[in-house]
Amino acid sequence: MRISENKIEEIRITANIVDVISEYVQLRKRGKNYIGLCPFHSEKTPSFTVSEEKQMFNCFGCHKGGNVYKFLMEYEKISFIESVQELAQKYGINIELDEESSGRQSEQEILYDINTEAARYFSNNLLNHPETEIAREYFQKRKIKPQTLRSFGLGYAFPGWDHFVNYAQERKIDLERAIALGLIGQSTDGRLYDKFPGRIIFPIFSPNGRVVAFAGRIIENKENAAKYLNSPESLIYIKGRILYGLSHAKDEIRKLDKAILVEGYMDLISLHQSGIKNVVAVSGTALTEEQVQLLSRYTKNVVLLFDADTAGIKASMRSIELLLKKDMEIKIASLPAGEDPDSFVNNYGREKFEEVIKKAQNFLEYQSAYFESKGMFDDPSKTAEAIRELVKPVSIINDELKRSLLIKTIAKKFNLREKLLENELDKAIQSAGKQITNEERIKNKELIKKNVETKLQNDKKISPRILRLEKEIIKLLFEGNKEVVEYISSRIPIEDFSAEAHTKIAELVYNACNNNEEIIAGSLIEKINNEELQLFIRDLIFDKYSISRNWEDIYPGLPHEKILQKISVDTVKRYLVEKINYIIKINLKLIESTEDENERFELMKLISNLEKEKMKVKQETNLES
Ligand code: CTP
Ligand code: MN
Repeated sequence: MRISENKIEEIRITANIVDVISEYVQLRKRGKNYIGLCPFHSEKTPSFTVSEEKQMFNCFGCHKGGNVYKFLMEYEKISFIESVQELAQKYGINIELDEESSGRQSEQEILYDINTEAARYFSNNLLNHPETEIAREYFQKRKIKPQTLRSFGLGYAFPGWDHFVNYAQERKIDLERAIALGLIGQSTDGRLYDKFPGRIIFPIFSPNGRVVAFAGRIIENKENAAKYLNSPESLIYIKGRILYGLSHAKDEIRKLDKAILVEGYMDLISLHQSGIKNVVAVSGTALTEEQVQLLSRYTKNVVLLFDADTAGIKASMRSIELLLKKDMEIKIASLPAGEDPDSFVNNYGREKFEEVIKKAQNFLEYQSAYFESKGMFDDPSKTAEAIRELVKPVSIINDELKRSLLIKTIAKKFNLREKLLENELDKAIQSAGKQITNEERIKNKELIKKNVETKLQNDKKISPRILRLEKEIIKLLFEGNKEVVEYISSRIPIEDFSAEAHTKIAELVYNACNNNEEIIAGSLIEKINNEELQLFIRDLIFDKYSISRNWEDIYPGLPHEKILQKISVDTVKRYLVEKINYIIKINLKLIESTEDENERFELMKLISNLEKEKMKVKQETNLES
């Protein structure tokens, strides 16, 4: 789908950034802005700022920022288009019309459409076809109700080799793309064939509920056939970034502020059917950092519920480290041997399942119980190893207080001196320190910022005073006042700005003003695809240490607009005077250094003209002059 720029703008204007962000972050009003704890990095004092006036957000800690779309993209890990769609839906703005009228779809949209059509086809096979009794029976045996089949879009692919191929041809589905999506395969002699024949189909959804891939489960376990087949990665499906069931679970996860992490598709579906809906599944792969990142947008509290087999325990151990790194609070629940969440909830019901979750252990208890069960504490040499293993995950935790509490727990449990554990901890921290941490990433961003600043300084070797005033002027351009922009543009042509970044920004704002567009940072920033420049604008707008004088005090009782105009005139005046002074100074130096009388005379004339110009500038008092 292609959404027109007008529509994107309309939606952005309707969705007040403060309202939208308030749903995710607790905001407090401070001065003109709102502040809160940044959802993108962990902090204890708020450095996350939202400006209603500018329709922008900015974090002084991790330097994330942008407009309302950017917020949703970052927070929900969704694409730009998805964020537009989400807001459109929320505010009841129809974007369907655009789709028809523009006719041009992005490649992603075409792929989504193909998957949607395939999902409908599979689902229809399962629900409505007389010859698919076998599949319906399968689900009946597994106690899945028809309503659940529908809500998870479950389906069935006919056996045989070209049932879907024929359907795709009939429906004029683009076959190349169906191959890329892994719905259809092509043999070396060019023949097309179905990829999931005779399998139960699980559509895999993006966090926003779009079909990005499929998994096909064999109905009758066969010796040499894989139990599950999965779509390959594609433009719309990156395996490590998807958590199965998230679109169904996200509201409940937020509500309960807790997520249960399971392994399998059927685990998730059965739990959901029994009313336990805050569940996501890793489904087949080891948990990835991106999946944790994704989940951490919804909650910091995770209960791991992996199968009790060795593979499950190994997976838990690996996942623990990853989750700790992202500052998640982890608990580990375990089921009786031979059960998985699906079988357990079907055998024992919801209440018993909830007890299991309540009894979840913290990760130290879990790991030490595991080492204990392997007899590691009976053998002194192995005890040392076990303790090292226990300390390792503790070293990953960023919070120092939490770390020392955990060390105390281990010390107590195994009757060890704390000092000993602390030494181990230090060692582990040092080796963990070699990996790039979140803090380092923040530092990198700071470095970029510094570079931008130095580049600015070097741009034209201009005095810092002039640059500072220039910055103030750029800031004024973002105040959203058309008269101010018109005034500034009439006094300072873009090429007169000393810094390259200022020139670029001025050009953008001047153009918007000429085209009668609304001058609002949240909208203008959309047109810049240079990250450094975006960062620069945000820093400017959210400048904590504003260098402007306190104008409200100088002009008490004057309306904001009028004060703004006075500031503009004054700043532009000071800037122009400063610039003239600067040129005069250079010329005076030239006079000193030249022997040529004629040249001296010319320079003096120039200086006197500059002085006159300066007088003229100084006499300007308001916008009209
Ligand atoms: N999996 C996979 N490919 C396989 C086997 C498993 O992708 N060949 C993934 C699936 O996401 C599966 C999960 O790993 O759901 C857990 O596997 P398993 O425990 O074997 O299956 P169950 O989810 O229990 O499936 P079922 O209950 O239908 O047997
Ligand atoms: Mn199972």
